[in-house]
Amino acid sequence: MEYHRKPLSQLKKRRELSRRISNLFPSPANRVRWDDLLTLNLLRANERVAEGPVTPDLNLADFRRELADFDFGRPRPLGELLSWTIEKMEHGLVHVTHPRYFGLFNPAPTFPAQCADRIAGTFNPQLATSTTSPVAVEIEAHVIRSVARRAGLPAEAAGHFTSGGSEANYTALLCALTRANPEFATKGARAFAGPPVFYVSQESHLAWIKIAHQAGIGRSAVRLVATDGLGRMDQSALKDAVIGDRASGHVPIMIAATAGTTNAGMIDPLFACAELAHSNDLWYHVDAAWGGALIASDRLRNSLTGIELADSVTIDAHKWFATTMGCGMFITRHSQLLSSTFQVSTSFMPSNLPSLDPYVTSVQWSRRFLGLRMFLSLAAAGWRGYAEHVERSIELTKLLEAKLVARGWSIANSSPLAVLCIKPPPGFGDVRPIVDRVLSSGRAWVAVASFEGSDIIRACVTHGETTEDDVVELVHALDAAADN
Ligand SMILES: Cc1ncc(COP(=O)(O)O)c(C=O)c1O
Repeated sequence: MEYHRKPLSQLKKRRELSRRISNLFPSPANRVRWDDLLTLNLLRANERVAEGPVTPDLNLADFRRELADFDFGRPRPLGELLSWTIEKMEHGLVHVTHPRYFGLFNPAPTFPAQCADRIAGTFNPQLATSTTSPVAVEIEAHVIRSVARRAGLPAEAAGHFTSGGSEANYTALLCALTRANPEFATKGARAFAGPPVFYVSQESHLAWIKIAHQAGIGRSAVRLVATDGLGRMDQSALKDAVIGDRASGHVPIMIAATAGTTNAGMIDPLFACAELAHSNDLWYHVDAAWGGALIASDRLRNSLTGIELADSVTIDAHKWFATTMGCGMFITRHSQLLSSTFQVSTSFMPSNLPSLDPYVTSVQWSRRFLGLRMFLSLAAAGWRGYAEHVERSIELTKLLEAKLVARGWSIANSSPLAVLCIKPPPGFGDVRPIVDRVLSSGRAWVAVASFEGSDIIRACVTHGETTEDDVVELVHALDAAADN
């Protein structure tokens, strides 16, 4: 047999092509080295964060100068980059993982959720279709069905993971518009006989304004219904708004009740909203972005009674369920409607099945394996573990309330969830300077928010590792800041 030698230049070229860019795709031995370094450094940083200030202590001007040195002209060693990044994060963030972070509900993430991110990052599955990622798509669908059942929705309820509550609420509006008039899918707002409008309370999360804009019905489509003085949607104001809109040629589409307002954890009257929505042939959505976690607790879930009547529900896994950011859930009892809202067909996708392929039933196309965070957390803790997680939050909130009230502070809201709207004792003036002093002390993190028109100090106790001592420390920090 004749043997043809390849020319030397061709062999050299081949060798070059088979070489990887090792800074991007290191050898297995180097990956282990970086992984070990990361694990250890992150663990130590986490420990230091818990002992240090909650607020950033880095000089931003110096940091910007350092950052400007990254002109990306020459490669830098990965080990050095990892250490640099961790150090800057340690000093340059409000630490939501700190046990005295009493801010919004994106607290310390569960460890199973962090493991999920690592697994998803390694396999990097594309969840647009089930054809390419059957296991991942099945896991997500299974979790969504379990959460839907736990919320009391029927067995045929379906949904998907979203980037967060805003995307889930946006999905609800698109479904409501498509259900109200299937021609919305092709004609947009022009399909309606008059301007479409929908109803949320004044205390709702105002991403609704952007959502109306995105959906093409305009920001003025959002009807901000008055509240009842206790932070809940006023039912007679809601009724009047629907009647008034009909009379003036507008087209009411949806009532979106909030189950856990962002500022005060108040729950709109869910039954009454459902009744009004259904008797007027409107879509009934429940935004339970953070309050939805109460479904875990048999003892506390009755606060959410009425959620089971919803056409659709938003629950964020990255809030009180404490997965990593961003991880929301959209659930609807009308699974067919999801496919009429989001269907699309292309030749380059391997399949186009509404029962299986998330890209034809949701806003996103390329999709990260977000649901693994909730799957691993829920499987590791069980509903009972999550019940204990939310119940301990509520107990700590009650403790905080009792300690503050005993010192002359007062609480403006009356929420079944883990948030207090705190008012200083009479004569202590504005809340903003008090909050500023707490933040500059670094002892805790709370926010200025507004409840029923007045400024309050909002403290949310949803961190899974906050202890009684941390609550006491917050009380002392507030007292010191108010005395100043
Ligand atoms: C009640 C409520 N709905 C919606 C959202 C928006 O969720 P996300 O920030 O995940 O988009 C929030 C966020 O705090 C919220 O509290």
